[in-house]
Amino acid sequence: MSQTKQAFEKHVLCIGAGYVGGPTMAMIAAKCPTYKVTVVDINEARIAAWQTDELPIYEPGLLEVVQEARGRNLFFSTDVEAGIKEADIIFVSVNTPTKTFGRGAGKAADLQFWEKTARQIRECSTSSKIVVEKSTLPVRTAEAMARILNWGEKATDIHFEVLSNPEFLAEGTAIADLKMPDRVLIGGAETPRGAAAVQDLVDLYAHWVPRERILTTNVWSSELSKLAANAMLAQRISSVNALSALCEATEADIDEVGRAIGSDSRIGPKFLRASVGFGGSCFKKDILNLVYLCEHYGLKEVASYWEQVVKINRYQRGRFVDRMITCMFNTVVGKKVAVFGFAFKADTGDTRESPAIYVCRELVDERAAVTVTDPKALPNAKRDLADIADQITWESDPYKAAEGAHAIAILTEWKEYAELNYERIFEVMEKPAFVFDGRNILDAEKLHRIGFNVYPIGKAPKTHIGEESEI
Ligand code: NAD
Ligand code: UDX
Repeated sequence: MSQTKQAFEKHVLCIGAGYVGGPTMAMIAAKCPTYKVTVVDINEARIAAWQTDELPIYEPGLLEVVQEARGRNLFFSTDVEAGIKEADIIFVSVNTPTKTFGRGAGKAADLQFWEKTARQIRECSTSSKIVVEKSTLPVRTAEAMARILNWGEKATDIHFEVLSNPEFLAEGTAIADLKMPDRVLIGGAETPRGAAAVQDLVDLYAHWVPRERILTTNVWSSELSKLAANAMLAQRISSVNALSALCEATEADIDEVGRAIGSDSRIGPKFLRASVGFGGSCFKKDILNLVYLCEHYGLKEVASYWEQVVKINRYQRGRFVDRMITCMFNTVVGKKVAVFGFAFKADTGDTRESPAIYVCRELVDERAAVTVTDPKALPNAKRDLADIADQITWESDPYKAAEGAHAIAILTEWKEYAELNYERIFEVMEKPAFVFDGRNILDAEKLHRIGFNVYPIGKAPKTHIGEESEI
């Protein structure tokens, strides 16, 4: 930390250099050149990667934003203590995974990383600070955080004002989302100190976000809004996926149904794409967190309403594998299946909670010979399936992955998979050749003409093999 404190108008620190901390702080540094922005993490390899052009996460447009500010007013470091001492505003962007042990296991948020951070901020601070919850946290966590930070003697001369400022970026579009967010949400205490802290954060974002898009609320509304937004987005996907099962049973077409209902301006067209299921580090975790909160407050009906969103998601990916097996004459033993896409969505290398993890595991259980290809996610995929890695083949070239395969399963909507030469692929596959399009990105009619048996989600299949083989 070579700059003197006077050289910058404000010192911003972010604890946690992950998918949220890294891109968010890069954008703040790029847009606020008079603020010094330091991102710290205990993961040395991650910090080292942020200092190179081989960034630790793949996100379109991120490198350019990092390069604009890095070394000027954007710094990456493992020195958490020095960062805390210097900071005026501290964003906490550590991971908050689902708890895997003890009370609330499988549902509640694991708050150990967040609590350690709060204690460390308190111990290392020599001046008052604004502490911003950037991580997604259960409602009323800010209250607990304020208690940890402000207890005892230290509170008399140093004050910590806790704000909630949840992040709404989606992976793959993080840079566009950060540049022009639909809204920035800031929750603060309804006290003079709270209002002053909220104003400081509003001033930071107002460097590039139109003022009318910066919403201020009380802390609890802000915390709950983040869980609610993710729950409602995931609910739309589960709703459309539930309808996709009905479409397959009735020969309605889920894309046509989606277009028809999405044309209603009250419903809107976004987030109505049927799929093999939603993945990502947030949806399942945040809904289960919401479910746990509802149970905690004795709201059983509300809890089970939201839990159903996760159950339908599980059902959808199980249904996808069932359909593969049924259509391939009720056995996939020894059959090569080429899995196209492992990332939980396109334009990211992130595989957390990717439906591909579950689909591959189930296919391996059925003794299929699985080959996985993905343009960005193979390193993470190998980690996710480390325990069965010897039963999987990894291949970066989709054409090679398809050689000798009985079936292709499209599990990520990478644009390049829609643009492949399927005549060439058909030539090298075993016959009958099957395509299970878990993202509805392929031209089913065209593939059928080539000779494939095509099974999109939520649509009638296009086959050459007749009903009798689909016993
Ligand atoms: P992540 O796992 O990619 O990054 C978290 C980082 O925090 C890790 O690098 C970890 O080493 C670091 N960390 C943990 N404890 C630490 C400590 N005591 N000191 C310093 N560093 C520490 O997680 P993420 O995807 O960036 O998510 C962070 C938070 O943001 C979560 O609460 C998540 O729910 C929320 N969120 C994520 C997304 C998303 O798209 N990934 C979007 C919105 C909100
Ligand atoms: C989500 C929220 O969108 C974002 O606001 C929040 O900050 C973090 O969680 P993310 O998980 O990165 O973002 O990606 P998102 O675009 O929401 O997709 C989540 C999953 O839903 C992906 O697996 C995606 O493929 C799937 N999806 C999305 C569908 O299956 N159908 C759709 O119509 C949209």
